[in-house]
Amino acid sequence: MKITSAEFVKSAFNREHWVDDLRPEIAFLGRSNVGKSSLINSLLNRKGLARTSNTPGRTQSINYFLINDEFYFVDLPGYGYAKVSKAMRSDWGTMAEEYLSAREQLALCIQLIDVRHEPTRLDLQLNEWLNFHQKPHIVVATKADKLSKNQLAKQVKAIRLSLADSTVEIYSSETGKGKEELWSTIQSAISRWP
Ligand code: GTP
Ligand code: MG
Repeated sequence: MKITSAEFVKSAFNREHWVDDLRPEIAFLGRSNVGKSSLINSLLNRKGLARTSNTPGRTQSINYFLINDEFYFVDLPGYGYAKVSKAMRSDWGTMAEEYLSAREQLALCIQLIDVRHEPTRLDLQLNEWLNFHQKPHIVVATKADKLSKNQLAKQVKAIRLSLADSTVEIYSSETGKGKEELWSTIQSAISRWP
C-alpha cells in the first residue's frame, strides 16, 4: 500500500467523541504494552505518529489516524495492566468493548499478542468474543525479532493451536517482518467494505 497521507485526527474518551464519519476503520487491540502503537507506526513508516512507551497503559483513549483520506487506523486502549485502579481498568474495558460492539465501520480488528508467550487469559477471552460475535479479525503475533528462528517456529505453532479459530500472522515492528502480508490483509478487508 502506498501511504500518501497519515494524520492523527483525535483522541476519544467517550462515545460522543467517536469520529463522525462512515469511512472504514481498522482497529488495533491487545494487552497494554504488547506493541499496538508501534505496529501502527511501523505499518505507516512514521516513527512518532502513534505514541509508544515502555510504560504500559500509555494509550488510554481511542485514537484515530486517517490514512490516505480513505480509512482510519484506530488505536484502542490496552487491557490487562494490573497497576491501575480497578475503576480505571473497567473504564478501559468498557470503552473498548462498547466500541467493538457498537461500531459499524469496523472493517477489520487486529488483535495483537506477544509471540514470545502463550496467549493470556484476557487474550483468549477477547479472541473468543471476536469469534462469537463474528467480527472480521486477525491475530498478529508481534515482537518476532525477539526470538530465534527455531523458537519462533515453535511459538507460532503453539499459538496457532490455541487460537485455532483465527488467522494468525507474524510481525515485528522492529524489522518490518510481516508488513507486506499484513497490508494485503488490511487492503482486502477495506476492499470488501461495506
Ligand atoms: P499501550 O499503549 O500501553 O497499550 O501499549 P502498546 O500496545 O501501544 O505498546 P507500544 O507500541 O507502546 O510498545 C511497548 C514497548 O514494546 C515499546 O518499548 C516498544 O518499543 C516495544 N515494541 C513494540 N513492538 C515491538 C517489536 O515488534 N519488537 C521489539 N523488539 N519491541 C517492540
Ligand atoms: Mg499504545
